[in-house]
Amino acid sequence: MSKDLGNGIYAEAIMVHRAEIKAKFVNRYSAILVGGLMMLLPACASANESGATIDNVLAGYQSAGAVEFSRQRGEALWAKQVVGAEPFSSRSCTSCHGADLKKPGQHVQTKKTIAPMSAAANSQRYQTEADIEKWFLRNCKWTFGRECSAQEKGDFLTYLRMQ
Ligand code: HEC
Repeated sequence: MSKDLGNGIYAEAIMVHRAEIKAKFVNRYSAILVGGLMMLLPACASANESGATIDNVLAGYQSAGAVEFSRQRGEALWAKQVVGAEPFSSRSCTSCHGADLKKPGQHVQTKKTIAPMSAAANSQRYQTEADIEKWFLRNCKWTFGRECSAQEKGDFLTYLRMQ
């Protein structure tokens, strides 16, 4: 009787112990899972729409014949001053977008505020290929008096995405 009782208690103790081990395992694995998810989340956030969109657009430019893109060339072209029609005789991309891409710019003609060009400072940037192309077309024509080539647009985006 006492032996049975002893065994019963022993068996129960083993079951409790097993349950504890199981709980520890579940806890450990869920901790690993949660930890893993938390590590993945920032990666997802940084590979957001703008990153994926820019990758696609750049791939398109390469199929159109562009060679490796250069951040330096993009930066230089961005700041390049071009002679234009009065009253905006000196023009560049910075005429409207400003010198600090993390800050808002101001349209030289309408005086309207333009949200920062930096994707890091402005999560709304570079969301769709259609918008990117629409504004490249309009702004290259206004600034340089001509369309930009696939190479130039790729250099711009390579520079802009790093701001
Ligand atoms: C006359 C003013 C003006 C000039 C100069 C200008 N831009 Fe813009 N740009 C705008 C406006 C307005 C928008 C649209 C509003 C917005 O996106 O906040 C825009 C948007 C853009 C976008 C779209 C970004 C997106 O989020 O999709 C790109 C790319 C761009 N400009 C590139 C350029 C480049 C390259 C130059 C120089 C060749 C340039 N811009 C010069 C006014 C200008």
